[in-house]
Amino acid sequence: MVIRGGRPLSGRVEVSGAKNAALPAIVASLLVDEPVVIENAPKLRDVETQLALVEALGKTARWEGNTILIRGEVSSVEAPGEVVSRMRASFLCLGPLLARFGEAHVPLPGGCVIGARPVDLHLEGLRRLGAEVEVREGVVHARGKLHGGEVWLRYPSVGATEQLLLAGAVIREPVEVVNPAREPEVVDLARLLSAMGAEISFSEDRITIQGGKLKGTGHAVIPDRIEAGTYLLAGAITGGEVEVVGARPEHLTALLAKLEECGVELAAGQRTVRLKARAPWSGVEVETSPYPGFPTDLQPQFTSFLALARGRSVIWERVFESRFGHVGELLRMGARITLQGQAILIEGVEGLRGAEVVATDIRAGAALVLAGLAAHGETRIEGVDHLRRGYENMEGKLAQLGAKAWVEELNGT
Ligand code: EPZ
Repeated sequence: MVIRGGRPLSGRVEVSGAKNAALPAIVASLLVDEPVVIENAPKLRDVETQLALVEALGKTARWEGNTILIRGEVSSVEAPGEVVSRMRASFLCLGPLLARFGEAHVPLPGGCVIGARPVDLHLEGLRRLGAEVEVREGVVHARGKLHGGEVWLRYPSVGATEQLLLAGAVIREPVEVVNPAREPEVVDLARLLSAMGAEISFSEDRITIQGGKLKGTGHAVIPDRIEAGTYLLAGAITGGEVEVVGARPEHLTALLAKLEECGVELAAGQRTVRLKARAPWSGVEVETSPYPGFPTDLQPQFTSFLALARGRSVIWERVFESRFGHVGELLRMGARITLQGQAILIEGVEGLRGAEVVATDIRAGAALVLAGLAAHGETRIEGVDHLRRGYENMEGKLAQLGAKAWVEELNGT
């Protein structure tokens, strides 16, 4: 992506459906043979990958605008390694296949650039529910008739919570997930599973799910809070004025609080957030943590924003041990940042300059886009594929806000 930066963004941009809510929703279609219709789905690479997964397992999927219609019977309980290796969220098919058919064979998703990302909590949880799990040559082989029970997660993992909800939806006895993740995407999955016929309740320390006979249903996924946050920060870092339409302010509380602390003006409506920023903003201290804490998925973008703040800032990355792929690249653009263990220490600078940089994952890529929008001169970001994995029509949305940003394909423009 090529960006000519240094101009304030202004205007309105509409949020797409949440990638991280659409991905488990697609897997939920494996729980039934009846059609499942997913509305407000974002058209992006990871969603296509998840559809390729359910298709490899026997389903057919069709897009109509931003609606996906998934139908057909599950014909296999073996997930293809080629798909699972592309995206970690495809590992979520383990629980539902196992709970429904008594066996499932799914390759380990492997590590990735933001951290080791093991799946031990997923496997321990399924074992507690009666699964016999063996890992041989990189493939998880799980068998058994699952039963109800209490599963305590020593960390509120989003994926492990979703895995257990998906499995629990077909188990006829109650499954209690203690210390669950409570991200809006988890709640959205629970909403879908309830519509399919499971009984789900949330209490202070647990989610209880009682499975049953499930049916197909329709479900509209929630707006993408990370995409919304990314465009708010795009407005902020350029000293601009933007309105993000369709955003749910209640899902963005931690980000909005930190932006206000920095001195950014905000106005939240029911389904919209408006922002006005003027340099210089103040530096702050931020710590990522599970919801409702500050999301790790906005940490890289917030790092770019704080690179231009007045004075010092610190960001503690507490969720992933090595989500710092953006830091070295921001240095090439003139940022003054040092890494100390899990802390990102930022000394604000007055300006960034365009450079050739490399996106190493989705959010590191988004951080570089934001830096490029604020920088003087031209920024060239290699690794646009990462952006396409997680953002729907990013070039188009940036253009709506007046940015000069476009993608040059390798064979020309
Ligand atoms: C989800 O990943 C999101 N992905 C991530 O979004 C997001 O960064 C993350 O939650 C945290 O909010 C999807 O929803 C598809 P976790 P997930 O299990 O489920 C450790 C993006 O850019 N852990 O909550 O994989 C793990 O290593 C992405 O859109 C274990 O130790 O996150 C990490 O340190 C990237 N054992 C921490 O927990 C396990 O079995 C949080 O991981 C599972 C996780």
